[in-house]
Amino acid sequence: MSKSLQAIRGMNDILPEQTPAWRYLENTLVSLLDGYGYREIRLPIVEYTELFARGIGEGTDVVDKEMYTFLDRNEESLTLRPEGTAGCVRAVLEHGLSGGGQVQKLWYAGPMFRYEKPQKGRYRQFHQVGVEAFNLPGPDVDAELIVLTWRLWKQLGLADAVTLQLNSLGSSEARAAYRDALVAYLQERFDQLDEDSQRRLTTNPLRILDSKNEQTQALLVGAPTLSDYLDEESRQHFEGVKARLDAAGIRYEINHKLVRGLDYYNRTVFEWVTDKLGAQGTVCAGGRYDGLVGQLGGKPTPGVGFAMGVERLVLLLETLELLPAELNRAAEVYVCAFGEAAELAALALAERLRDQLPGLRLLVNSGGGSFKSQFKKADKSGARYALILGEDELAARVVGCKPLRDDSEQQSIAWDALAEHLAGRLQRG
Ligand code: HAM
Repeated sequence: MSKSLQAIRGMNDILPEQTPAWRYLENTLVSLLDGYGYREIRLPIVEYTELFARGIGEGTDVVDKEMYTFLDRNEESLTLRPEGTAGCVRAVLEHGLSGGGQVQKLWYAGPMFRYEKPQKGRYRQFHQVGVEAFNLPGPDVDAELIVLTWRLWKQLGLADAVTLQLNSLGSSEARAAYRDALVAYLQERFDQLDEDSQRRLTTNPLRILDSKNEQTQALLVGAPTLSDYLDEESRQHFEGVKARLDAAGIRYEINHKLVRGLDYYNRTVFEWVTDKLGAQGTVCAGGRYDGLVGQLGGKPTPGVGFAMGVERLVLLLETLELLPAELNRAAEVYVCAFGEAAELAALALAERLRDQLPGLRLLVNSGGGSFKSQFKKADKSGARYALILGEDELAARVVGCKPLRDDSEQQSIAWDALAEHLAGRLQRG
């Protein structure tokens, strides 16, 4: 027997029960971004592999282990985007959007792909809403991005469920000096490191800082800290970010071990973390990447941004029961028609009602059926009123208007008076 077809592990269907929550989150976020003057950019899902190798960095888990890479029919190496920043920078460069120091404030949304071990909150196809700002070197924009996310948490009711972790990675020179010091320290203790960290010592030593291994964490207690290596300009920049967060009343925790998994960051990095989702608690993360545009072939251009994990945020809203009840809005009116002639009239009447009452949630029975079966469907739809059209109603140009959610009597309403009648009942204008 052939194996039944299934979605790929870690790649999920978002079912109709779930999409209202997604739309709620996305719409809230998009109108917020609109309000801060960020504009949408739509980017391809597939890019040349080289973009990610150069942008995110060889030696990162994402590039070394997690990319969906394949040769196309032209033998070119392509990759399903594992994140959005590299593609956004590529587009900005390709279209000259950051030329002449132009400020760009952009956002994008869509699926990303990483070959990770699937678990709650971690998938192989997941969705991000990402935000990027170009040509703004100061700490004000770092703070603006954080303030904007804070406003989102407040709007969604999540303010008490998330905390902000903040760090500065300094300049790339400062980071390199720190990396040398960390490697020297850990090299002396090589045998006590877990296997993953031993490997990372040569490939990406800063990532050892967020190892989950307890023994490695214990070793790190005495290790040099990044803050001791910060260059003066980065230190001042970081002070500027903190001062603005203080002024905005946003609390944060300085986490010297926050280094992020992608290589392009410098100076400010941050993560919004929740303890309500288990191991995959980071719902939003980002930072500054002043070197990335240059690295990808453009003139030096400061950049800063973040991305949110849509699945994790939806999960969090569901877990905390913060989704508004009216998201799954039932139909308001269900039209039952009996016989061919009544069906034709019902269709015309329904369309007229849609013209007269824009936004009306009206279902017309499909597939015919007896009185009993149509009423059953009307009831199941959650509609408040059933409109009934049979031969008698057709002849008299009326419909039976039957309340489905209370015991009041069915009324006979003339077609011409129907919109007004329903508007009154449904309390529409
Ligand atoms: P990231 O930390 O790799 O950063 O991902 C951002 C967010 O995407 C994470 O905090 C998480 O919520 C979500 N996410 C990541 N991987 C998965 C997964 N496998 N399953 C579910 N959700 C996931 C970036 O991607 C950067 N491009 C962010 C950025 C933009 N930095 C500057 N600008």
